[in-house]
Amino acid sequence: MRNFTSVHDIEDLNVALEKAKWVKDNPYANQDLGKNKTLLLIFFNSSLRTRLSTQKAGYNLGMNVIVLDINQGAWKLETERGVIMDGDKPEHILEAIPVMGAYCDIIGVRSFAQFENKKDDYNEVILNQFIKYSGKPVFSMEAATRHPLQSFADLITIEEFKKTDCPKVVLTWAPHPKALPQAVPNSFAEWMNATDYEFVITHPKGYELEESFVGNAKVEYNVEKAYKGADFIYAKNWSPYNDPNYGKVISKDRDWTVDSKKMALTNNAYFMHCLPVRRNMIVTDAVIESSQSIVIQEAANRVVSAQTVLKEILLGLA
Ligand code: CP
Repeated sequence: MRNFTSVHDIEDLNVALEKAKWVKDNPYANQDLGKNKTLLLIFFNSSLRTRLSTQKAGYNLGMNVIVLDINQGAWKLETERGVIMDGDKPEHILEAIPVMGAYCDIIGVRSFAQFENKKDDYNEVILNQFIKYSGKPVFSMEAATRHPLQSFADLITIEEFKKTDCPKVVLTWAPHPKALPQAVPNSFAEWMNATDYEFVITHPKGYELEESFVGNAKVEYNVEKAYKGADFIYAKNWSPYNDPNYGKVISKDRDWTVDSKKMALTNNAYFMHCLPVRRNMIVTDAVIESSQSIVIQEAANRVVSAQTVLKEILLGLA
């Protein structure tokens, strides 16, 4: 594997899941693989889980790890070509990226959608510049349209907890005070569509995801119907994809909050969320604190997904 930006970089999902299981059972077995190799993690946006789990994954593989928060201590970066740089951004990303590439062997990038230009967001302008100009393998730590390390961890978690071969997995929109990107639901949908699971997406009208991500999923606007018989409820807020509301908040309807009443409609479903989660907006205290909540196990599997991917990239370097 050279770069990892989506499920399409995984040749065979079942093989990837077997590799992940092996990594989870043998976390320190490949310490020589990363010896004298440097992992550079670049954050344009905040993080708790991705930062810690990817660092841990690098250390488990024997790598040196450098973390850079672009907005805290680095020069502010200009990202547009052709701009007269007489403003507050002293460095251009076209110099910064190859310089960063010169200091490492693998680069992880977190760069969210900016909601200024949908075309730029959906063309993954920042991530693709790292791929083009760094000269090094690049993996996404959540980009504008996808969060593949999260989705891989989600899939690993579902495989660990599922009670039938083809569980019913429901991705539900839930309210949030701010406009959030579509990266997590897009990516989750893409990974679920790559499985044999029964996959349903439920959200209020106006929150349709881009159709290539929806794929073969059933879209159900009636939230109670969607929950019925579900084995997993995966909650997430996102902002609308379609114009004219791209990246805006058009509903804060708390009827969509995951609560015990709706969970009672399910097949004793497990509750999942990528975190961080706003309690009593996205999910009630009672549901997230219940025995069916597997959000901590899900977050813990972020080390496994990151380590599995990093190992494959390292093997590609050898
Ligand atoms: N789920 C996730 O990516 O968490 P962070 O934003 O804290 O990294």
